[in-house]
Amino acid sequence: MTPEELSTLHHKCFLQPRPWSPNEFRQLLGSCFLVERSNAFLLGRFIFDDAEILTLAVSPRERRKGVASLLVKEFFLKATEQGIKRVTLEVAEDNLPALALYNSFHFINIGRREKYYKSINQQKNVAALVLSCDLLLTNQ
Ligand SMILES: CC(C)(COP(=O)(O)OP(=O)(O)OC[C@H]1O[C@@H](n2cnc3c(N)ncnc32)[C@H](O)[C@@H]1OP(=O)(O)O)[C@@H](O)C(=O)NCCC(=O)NCCS
Repeated sequence: MTPEELSTLHHKCFLQPRPWSPNEFRQLLGSCFLVERSNAFLLGRFIFDDAEILTLAVSPRERRKGVASLLVKEFFLKATEQGIKRVTLEVAEDNLPALALYNSFHFINIGRREKYYKSINQQKNVAALVLSCDLLLTNQ
C-alpha cells in the first residue's frame, strides 16, 4: 500500500486517536516494518530486543474474518526471526475489539497512561493501556 492508501484506511478505522497523514506514513515506512493484506495493515518496529506495534487497521467490511490475527502472527514471526523477545503496544482502554484481539494473543497489561487519547465526542480523555506479549512464552 502507498502512504496515501495507508492514510485513507487509517482514517476509516480511527476517529480517535487522530488519523495519520500520508506524510507521517511516508516517514514511518523508512524505519518500520509493514505487514499488509488488501484492506488491512499492521505497522510495527523493532528496537533491540523489543518490538512495538504502532498501529493496526482492518477495513470495517473485512472485520471478524481473522485478518488482524493473521497480521499479528506474521509480525510475531518476523520479530522472532529477528531475535525479538517482547512485543509491546498501546491501546485505548475503551477499544474492546482490539483488547479482545490482543487478549487472544496473551498480551498482558503492564502499564496505563492516563488521559492519553481524546474520546470521540472530545468530552473526556481515555487512558491508554500498555500491553506486552512475551514471544518466548507465546512460541512454546
Ligand atoms: C481491532 C481490529 C484490528 C480487529 O480486526 P479483525 O480482523 O476484525 O480481528 P480478527 O477477525 O482477527 O479477530 C480475532 C479475535 O479478536 C477478537 N475480536 C475482534 N474483533 C472483536 C469485536 N468487535 N468484538 C469482540 N471481539 C473481537 C475476537 O476474539 C476474535 O476472534 P473470533 O472472531 O474468533 O471471536 C479491527 O476491529 C480494527 O481495525 N479496529 C479499528 C482500529 C483499531 O482499533 N486497531 C487497533 C488499535 S491498537
